[in-house]
Amino acid sequence: MYEIGIIGYGGMGSWHAKSIMAMPEEFHLAGVYDINPKKTEAAMEKGLKGYDTLEELLSDALIQTVIIATPNNFHKELSIKAMEAGKNVICEKPVMMCAADLEDVIAVSKKLGRQFSVHQNRRWDKDFLIIKQIIEEGSIGKPFYIESRVQGSKGVPGDWRCIKEAGGGMLLDWGVHLIDQIMWMVKSPVTEIYAHLLSVKFPGVDDNFKLMMRFENGLSALVEVDTYTFINLPRWHVSGDKGTAQVDGFECTGQIVRANTVEMKWEEGIVYTAAGPTRTMAPRPEETIERFPLPEIETDAKDYYRNFKEADEGTADLIVTSEQALRVMKVLDAVFESAQKGASVSVNI
Ligand SMILES: NC(=O)c1ccc[n+]([C@@H]2O[C@H](COP(=O)([O-])OP(=O)(O)OC[C@H]3O[C@@H](n4cnc5c(N)ncnc54)[C@H](O)[C@@H]3O)[C@@H](O)[C@H]2O)c1
Repeated sequence: MYEIGIIGYGGMGSWHAKSIMAMPEEFHLAGVYDINPKKTEAAMEKGLKGYDTLEELLSDALIQTVIIATPNNFHKELSIKAMEAGKNVICEKPVMMCAADLEDVIAVSKKLGRQFSVHQNRRWDKDFLIIKQIIEEGSIGKPFYIESRVQGSKGVPGDWRCIKEAGGGMLLDWGVHLIDQIMWMVKSPVTEIYAHLLSVKFPGVDDNFKLMMRFENGLSALVEVDTYTFINLPRWHVSGDKGTAQVDGFECTGQIVRANTVEMKWEEGIVYTAAGPTRTMAPRPEETIERFPLPEIETDAKDYYRNFKEADEGTADLIVTSEQALRVMKVLDAVFESAQKGASVSVNI
Protein backbone atom coordinates (compact mmCIF):
# COMPACT_ATOMS: atom_id res chain seq x y z
CA MET A 1 0.00 0.00 0.00
CA TYR A 2 1.32 3.46 -0.92
CA GLU A 3 1.19 5.68 2.17
CA ILE A 4 0.47 9.41 1.87
CA GLY A 5 0.48 12.24 4.42
CA ILE A 6 -1.10 15.65 3.84
CA ILE A 7 0.19 19.00 5.14
CA GLY A 8 -2.51 21.67 5.11
CA TYR A 9 -6.11 20.48 5.53
CA GLY A 10 -8.04 23.37 3.99
CA GLY A 11 -10.02 23.37 0.76
CA MET A 12 -7.45 21.54 -1.35
CA GLY A 13 -6.01 19.35 1.43
CA SER A 14 -9.46 17.93 2.14
CA TRP A 15 -9.96 17.40 -1.61
CA HIS A 16 -6.71 15.38 -1.73
CA ALA A 17 -7.87 13.35 1.28
CA LYS A 18 -11.17 12.55 -0.45
CA SER A 19 -9.44 11.60 -3.72
CA ILE A 20 -6.91 9.32 -2.00
CA MET A 21 -9.56 7.60 0.07
CA ALA A 22 -11.49 6.93 -3.16
CA MET A 23 -8.61 4.63 -4.27
CA PRO A 24 -8.41 2.20 -1.29
CA GLU A 25 -6.77 -0.57 -3.34
CA GLU A 26 -3.84 1.65 -4.33
CA PHE A 27 -3.31 4.28 -1.61
CA HIS A 28 -3.66 4.74 2.11
CA LEU A 29 -3.96 8.13 3.76
CA ALA A 30 -1.68 7.92 6.81
CA GLY A 31 -2.95 11.23 8.21
CA VAL A 32 -2.91 15.01 8.07
CA TYR A 33 -1.23 17.95 9.78
CA ASP A 34 -2.49 21.54 9.71
CA ILE A 35 -0.95 24.50 11.52
CA ASN A 36 -4.46 25.38 12.68
CA PRO A 37 -5.44 22.72 15.27
CA LYS A 38 -9.13 23.24 14.43
CA LYS A 39 -8.46 21.97 10.89
CA THR A 40 -6.62 18.90 12.21
CA GLU A 41 -9.56 18.27 14.59
CA ALA A 42 -11.96 18.52 11.65
CA ALA A 43 -9.94 15.81 9.90
CA MET A 44 -10.01 13.62 13.03
CA GLU A 45 -13.78 14.01 13.26
CA LYS A 46 -13.90 12.43 9.82
CA GLY A 47 -11.96 9.44 11.12
CA LEU A 48 -8.53 10.52 9.82
CA LYS A 49 -5.36 10.42 11.86
CA GLY A 50 -4.28 13.92 12.90
CA TYR A 51 -0.65 14.73 13.70
CA ASP A 52 -0.07 17.35 16.42
CA THR A 53 3.11 18.69 14.84
CA LEU A 54 4.80 18.83 11.47
CA GLU A 55 7.74 16.88 12.92
CA GLU A 56 5.41 14.11 14.03
CA LEU A 57 4.04 13.70 10.50
CA LEU A 58 7.48 13.90 8.89
CA SER A 59 8.95 11.32 11.26
CA ASP A 60 6.22 8.77 10.57
CA ALA A 61 8.27 6.10 8.80
CA LEU A 62 5.14 4.69 7.13
CA ILE A 63 4.67 7.79 4.96
CA GLN A 64 6.32 7.59 1.51
CA THR A 65 4.92 10.77 -0.02
CA VAL A 66 3.77 14.05 1.44
CA ILE A 67 1.24 16.31 -0.27
CA ILE A 68 1.73 20.02 0.49
CA ALA A 69 -1.54 21.94 0.32
CA THR A 70 -0.80 25.12 2.26
CA PRO A 71 -0.86 28.73 1.01
CA ASN A 72 1.81 29.28 -1.62
CA ASN A 73 4.44 31.06 0.51
CA PHE A 74 5.00 27.89 2.60
CA HIS A 75 5.58 25.52 -0.33
CA LYS A 76 9.37 25.97 -0.47
CA GLU A 77 10.16 25.51 3.22
CA LEU A 78 7.78 22.55 3.61
CA SER A 79 8.97 20.82 0.40
CA ILE A 80 12.59 20.96 1.55
CA LYS A 81 11.75 19.82 5.10
CA ALA A 82 9.72 16.88 3.78
CA MET A 83 12.47 15.75 1.39
CA GLU A 84 15.10 16.08 4.12
CA ALA A 85 12.89 13.84 6.26
CA GLY A 86 13.06 11.19 3.53
CA LYS A 87 9.73 11.82 1.82
CA ASN A 88 8.78 12.27 -1.80
CA VAL A 89 6.73 15.42 -2.39
CA ILE A 90 3.63 16.33 -4.33
CA CYS A 91 3.43 20.11 -4.04
CA GLU A 92 0.33 22.12 -4.85
CA LYS A 93 0.49 24.71 -7.59
CA PRO A 94 1.94 27.26 -7.99
CA VAL A 95 4.88 25.07 -7.08
CA MET A 96 6.83 28.09 -5.78
CA MET A 97 6.64 31.88 -5.80
CA CYS A 98 9.43 32.24 -8.42
CA ALA A 99 11.76 30.14 -10.59
CA ALA A 100 14.81 30.70 -8.34
CA ASP A 101 12.97 29.10 -5.39
CA LEU A 102 12.10 26.10 -7.53
CA GLU A 103 15.72 25.72 -8.63
CA ASP A 104 16.70 25.47 -4.93
CA VAL A 105 14.05 22.82 -4.33
CA ILE A 106 15.01 20.81 -7.43
CA ALA A 107 18.63 20.84 -6.23
CA VAL A 108 17.52 19.30 -2.90
CA SER A 109 15.39 16.69 -4.66
CA LYS A 110 18.31 15.69 -6.93
CA LYS A 111 20.84 15.63 -4.08
CA LEU A 112 18.62 13.47 -1.86
CA GLY A 113 17.09 11.39 -4.66
CA ARG A 114 13.49 12.25 -3.76
CA GLN A 115 10.68 12.33 -6.33
CA PHE A 116 9.19 15.82 -6.58
CA SER A 117 6.16 16.82 -8.63
CA VAL A 118 3.52 19.55 -8.83
CA HIS A 119 -0.20 18.88 -8.68
CA GLN A 120 -1.03 20.20 -12.16
CA ASN A 121 -4.32 18.33 -12.07
CA ARG A 122 -5.85 20.49 -14.79
CA ARG A 123 -3.85 18.54 -17.38
CA TRP A 124 -6.65 15.98 -16.84
CA ASP A 125 -9.51 18.48 -17.41
CA LYS A 126 -11.97 17.43 -20.10
CA ASP A 127 -12.09 20.83 -21.86
CA PHE A 128 -8.29 20.89 -22.14
CA LEU A 129 -8.02 17.27 -23.36
CA ILE A 130 -10.63 17.95 -26.06
CA ILE A 131 -8.57 20.85 -27.43
CA LYS A 132 -5.31 18.89 -27.09
CA GLN A 133 -6.79 15.99 -29.07
CA ILE A 134 -8.18 18.30 -31.79
CA ILE A 135 -4.76 19.90 -32.21
CA GLU A 136 -2.85 16.59 -32.13
CA GLU A 137 -5.17 14.94 -34.65
CA GLY A 138 -4.84 17.91 -37.01
CA SER A 139 -8.64 18.38 -37.06
CA ILE A 140 -8.25 22.12 -37.72
CA GLY A 141 -4.89 21.88 -39.51
CA LYS A 142 -1.91 23.71 -38.11
CA PRO A 143 -2.96 25.94 -35.19
CA PHE A 144 -1.76 29.52 -35.31
CA TYR A 145 -3.71 31.11 -32.45
CA ILE A 146 -4.97 29.68 -29.16
CA GLU A 147 -7.22 31.51 -26.72
CA SER A 148 -7.58 29.97 -23.26
CA ARG A 149 -9.53 31.74 -20.56
CA VAL A 150 -11.53 31.39 -17.38
CA GLN A 151 -13.88 34.10 -16.18
CA GLY A 152 -15.84 34.74 -13.00
CA SER A 153 -17.56 37.77 -11.52
CA LYS A 154 -17.24 37.21 -7.77
CA GLY A 155 -13.74 38.62 -7.29
CA VAL A 156 -10.85 36.90 -5.49
CA PRO A 157 -11.83 34.66 -2.53
CA GLY A 158 -11.25 36.84 0.55
CA ASP A 159 -8.43 34.77 2.10
CA TRP A 160 -4.64 34.61 1.59
CA ARG A 161 -5.33 34.86 -2.14
CA CYS A 162 -5.74 38.64 -1.61
CA ILE A 163 -2.29 38.95 -0.01
CA LYS A 164 0.71 39.38 -2.30
CA GLU A 165 3.26 38.02 0.24
CA ALA A 166 1.23 34.83 0.67
CA GLY A 167 1.35 34.20 -3.08
CA GLY A 168 -2.05 35.74 -3.82
CA GLY A 169 -3.39 36.91 -7.16
CA MET A 170 -4.81 35.13 -10.15
CA LEU A 171 -1.59 34.58 -12.10
CA LEU A 172 -0.34 32.25 -9.36
CA ASP A 173 -3.80 30.73 -9.06
CA TRP A 174 -5.67 29.87 -12.27
CA GLY A 175 -2.91 31.45 -14.37
CA VAL A 176 -0.41 28.73 -13.56
CA HIS A 177 -2.91 26.03 -14.61
CA LEU A 178 -3.67 27.67 -17.96
CA ILE A 179 -0.01 28.36 -18.74
CA ASP A 180 0.98 24.80 -17.76
CA GLN A 181 -1.74 23.36 -20.04
CA ILE A 182 -0.55 25.36 -23.03
CA MET A 183 3.14 24.61 -22.45
CA TRP A 184 2.37 20.88 -22.05
CA MET A 185 0.42 20.93 -25.33
CA VAL A 186 2.67 23.18 -27.48
CA LYS A 187 6.02 21.47 -27.96
CA SER A 188 8.01 24.60 -28.78
CA PRO A 189 10.04 27.15 -26.79
CA VAL A 190 8.35 30.36 -25.59
CA THR A 191 10.05 33.38 -27.18
CA GLU A 192 7.99 36.38 -26.05
CA ILE A 193 5.65 37.37 -23.20
CA TYR A 194 3.45 40.44 -23.01
CA ALA A 195 1.18 40.82 -19.99
CA HIS A 196 -1.38 43.18 -18.52
CA LEU A 197 -1.99 42.39 -14.84
CA LEU A 198 -4.80 44.46 -13.33
CA SER A 199 -5.92 45.06 -9.75
CA VAL A 200 -9.53 46.07 -10.33
CA LYS A 201 -11.13 45.25 -6.97
CA PHE A 202 -8.27 43.84 -4.88
CA PRO A 203 -5.36 46.25 -4.43
CA GLY A 204 -1.97 44.58 -4.25
CA VAL A 205 -2.78 41.45 -6.25
CA ASP A 206 -3.71 40.82 -9.87
CA ASP A 207 -7.41 40.00 -10.01
CA ASN A 208 -7.81 40.19 -13.82
CA PHE A 209 -5.12 39.61 -16.43
CA LYS A 210 -4.43 39.08 -20.10
CA LEU A 211 -1.21 37.70 -21.42
CA MET A 212 0.15 36.97 -24.89
CA MET A 213 2.68 34.19 -25.39
CA ARG A 214 4.62 33.72 -28.62
CA PHE A 215 6.20 30.35 -29.43
CA GLU A 216 9.21 29.65 -31.64
CA ASN A 217 7.06 27.55 -34.01
CA GLY A 218 5.00 30.65 -34.91
CA LEU A 219 2.02 29.93 -32.68
CA SER A 220 0.57 32.68 -30.47
CA ALA A 221 -1.54 32.14 -27.36
CA LEU A 222 -3.77 34.45 -25.36
CA VAL A 223 -4.23 33.46 -21.72
CA GLU A 224 -6.87 35.35 -19.81
CA VAL A 225 -8.18 35.15 -16.25
CA ASP A 226 -10.94 37.45 -15.03
CA THR A 227 -12.65 37.61 -11.66
CA TYR A 228 -14.88 40.57 -12.46
CA THR A 229 -16.62 39.96 -15.74
CA PHE A 230 -20.33 39.31 -16.18
CA ILE A 231 -20.49 38.06 -19.78
CA ASN A 232 -18.18 35.16 -20.51
CA LEU A 233 -16.23 34.47 -23.68
CA PRO A 234 -15.49 30.84 -24.70
CA ARG A 235 -13.20 28.73 -22.50
CA TRP A 236 -11.16 27.76 -25.61
CA HIS A 237 -11.10 29.24 -29.13
CA VAL A 238 -8.43 27.85 -31.43
CA SER A 239 -7.71 28.92 -35.00
CA GLY A 240 -5.90 26.60 -37.40
CA ASP A 241 -5.09 26.85 -41.09
CA LYS A 242 -7.97 24.44 -41.90
CA GLY A 243 -10.62 25.48 -39.37
CA THR A 244 -11.62 26.65 -35.91
CA ALA A 245 -12.47 24.82 -32.68
CA GLN A 246 -14.39 26.22 -29.74
CA VAL A 247 -15.14 24.81 -26.30
CA ASP A 248 -17.73 27.07 -24.71
CA GLY A 249 -17.15 26.35 -21.03
CA PHE A 250 -16.43 23.67 -18.41
CA GLU A 251 -19.52 21.72 -19.50
CA CYS A 252 -17.70 21.19 -22.82
CA THR A 253 -20.29 22.13 -25.42
CA GLY A 254 -18.86 23.56 -28.61
CA GLN A 255 -17.96 22.62 -32.16
CA ILE A 256 -15.33 22.31 -34.86
CA VAL A 257 -15.94 24.27 -38.07
CA ARG A 258 -13.81 23.63 -41.14
CA ALA A 259 -13.67 24.79 -44.72
CA ASN A 260 -14.89 21.92 -46.96
CA THR A 261 -13.92 21.15 -50.55
CA VAL A 262 -16.60 23.42 -52.07
CA GLU A 263 -14.65 26.37 -53.41
CA MET A 264 -15.53 29.68 -51.79
CA LYS A 265 -16.06 32.41 -54.35
CA TRP A 266 -15.96 36.06 -53.43
CA GLU A 267 -19.21 37.89 -54.15
CA GLU A 268 -19.20 40.22 -57.12
CA GLY A 269 -19.48 43.78 -55.86
CA ILE A 270 -20.31 45.12 -52.43
CA VAL A 271 -21.98 42.98 -49.69
CA TYR A 272 -24.14 44.84 -47.19
CA THR A 273 -24.30 43.62 -43.58
CA ALA A 274 -26.08 45.18 -40.59
CA ALA A 275 -22.83 47.10 -40.10
CA GLY A 276 -22.74 48.40 -43.64
CA PRO A 277 -20.68 47.22 -46.64
CA THR A 278 -17.98 44.58 -46.02
CA ARG A 279 -17.03 41.62 -48.18
CA THR A 280 -14.27 40.44 -45.83
CA MET A 281 -16.42 40.10 -42.72
CA ALA A 282 -19.71 39.01 -44.34
CA PRO A 283 -20.65 35.43 -43.31
CA ARG A 284 -19.17 32.61 -45.37
CA PRO A 285 -21.67 30.64 -47.50
CA GLU A 286 -22.85 27.65 -45.38
CA GLU A 287 -22.24 25.20 -48.28
CA THR A 288 -18.49 25.93 -48.10
CA ILE A 289 -18.08 24.76 -44.47
CA GLU A 290 -18.46 21.59 -42.43
CA ARG A 291 -19.42 21.42 -38.76
CA PHE A 292 -18.30 18.60 -36.44
CA PRO A 293 -19.03 17.79 -32.80
CA LEU A 294 -16.19 17.91 -30.29
CA PRO A 295 -14.49 14.56 -29.60
CA GLU A 296 -15.74 12.51 -26.64
CA ILE A 297 -13.13 12.29 -23.89
CA GLU A 298 -13.04 10.19 -20.72
CA THR A 299 -10.66 11.42 -18.04
CA ASP A 300 -9.89 10.82 -14.36
CA ALA A 301 -7.80 13.39 -12.47
CA LYS A 302 -6.88 10.65 -9.96
CA ASP A 303 -4.52 9.34 -12.66
CA TYR A 304 -2.15 12.08 -11.46
CA TYR A 305 -1.60 10.22 -8.13
CA ARG A 306 -1.44 6.83 -9.90
CA ASN A 307 1.27 8.10 -12.22
CA PHE A 308 3.24 9.57 -9.29
CA LYS A 309 3.15 6.19 -7.49
CA GLU A 310 4.09 4.22 -10.64
CA ALA A 311 6.98 6.59 -11.36
CA ASP A 312 8.19 6.15 -7.76
CA GLU A 313 8.00 2.37 -8.22
CA GLY A 314 9.89 2.63 -11.51
CA THR A 315 7.09 1.36 -13.74
CA ALA A 316 6.22 4.66 -15.50
CA ASP A 317 7.72 7.99 -16.42
CA LEU A 318 6.58 10.88 -14.24
CA ILE A 319 4.04 12.96 -16.18
CA VAL A 320 4.39 16.28 -14.30
CA THR A 321 8.13 16.79 -13.86
CA SER A 322 10.00 19.49 -11.96
CA GLU A 323 11.76 20.51 -15.20
CA GLN A 324 8.39 21.29 -16.82
CA ALA A 325 7.36 23.17 -13.68
CA LEU A 326 10.56 25.21 -13.89
CA ARG A 327 9.72 26.30 -17.47
CA VAL A 328 6.27 27.39 -16.26
CA MET A 329 7.79 29.31 -13.32
CA LYS A 330 10.20 31.08 -15.69
CA VAL A 331 7.22 32.17 -17.79
CA LEU A 332 5.49 33.46 -14.63
CA ASP A 333 8.62 35.45 -13.74
CA ALA A 334 8.56 36.95 -17.26
CA VAL A 335 4.86 37.78 -16.92
CA PHE A 336 5.51 39.78 -13.73
CA GLU A 337 8.47 41.48 -15.44
CA SER A 338 6.42 42.39 -18.52
CA ALA A 339 3.56 43.76 -16.42
CA GLN A 340 5.92 45.81 -14.31
CA LYS A 341 7.76 47.25 -17.36
CA GLY A 342 4.59 47.72 -19.39
CA ALA A 343 6.39 46.14 -22.33
CA SER A 344 6.90 42.77 -23.92
CA VAL A 345 9.79 40.61 -22.73
CA SER A 346 11.91 38.43 -25.04
CA VAL A 347 12.63 35.02 -23.55
CA ASN A 348 13.89 31.59 -24.55
CA ILE A 349 12.06 29.18 -22.26
N1 LIG B 1 -4.71 22.14 -7.95
C1 LIG B 1 -5.82 22.80 -7.75
O1 LIG B 1 -6.77 22.69 -8.51
C2 LIG B 1 -5.93 23.72 -6.57
C3 LIG B 1 -7.18 24.25 -6.19
C4 LIG B 1 -7.23 25.07 -5.05
C5 LIG B 1 -6.07 25.36 -4.36
N2 LIG B 1 -4.88 24.84 -4.79
C6 LIG B 1 -3.63 25.15 -4.07
O2 LIG B 1 -3.66 24.46 -2.82
C7 LIG B 1 -2.99 25.23 -1.83
C8 LIG B 1 -3.94 25.46 -0.66
O3 LIG B 1 -5.06 26.17 -1.12
P1 LIG B 1 -6.47 26.04 -0.36
O4 LIG B 1 -7.50 26.57 -1.27
O5 LIG B 1 -6.63 24.66 0.17
O6 LIG B 1 -6.23 27.05 0.84
P2 LIG B 1 -6.96 27.02 2.25
O7 LIG B 1 -6.73 28.36 2.85
O8 LIG B 1 -8.35 26.51 2.09
O9 LIG B 1 -6.14 25.91 3.08
C9 LIG B 1 -4.81 26.05 3.44
C10 LIG B 1 -4.58 25.29 4.75
O10 LIG B 1 -3.20 25.31 5.06
C11 LIG B 1 -3.06 25.53 6.46
N3 LIG B 1 -1.71 26.07 6.69
C12 LIG B 1 -1.28 27.35 6.49
N4 LIG B 1 0.05 27.43 6.74
C13 LIG B 1 0.44 26.17 7.11
C14 LIG B 1 1.69 25.63 7.50
N5 LIG B 1 2.80 26.37 7.54
N6 LIG B 1 1.73 24.31 7.81
C15 LIG B 1 0.62 23.55 7.78
N7 LIG B 1 -0.59 24.01 7.42
C16 LIG B 1 -0.67 25.32 7.08
C17 LIG B 1 -4.19 26.48 6.80
O11 LIG B 1 -4.49 26.44 8.20
C18 LIG B 1 -5.31 25.94 5.93
O12 LIG B 1 -6.09 24.96 6.60
C19 LIG B 1 -2.53 26.51 -2.53
O13 LIG B 1 -1.20 26.36 -2.93
C20 LIG B 1 -3.44 26.60 -3.73
O14 LIG B 1 -2.87 27.32 -4.80
C21 LIG B 1 -4.80 24.03 -5.86
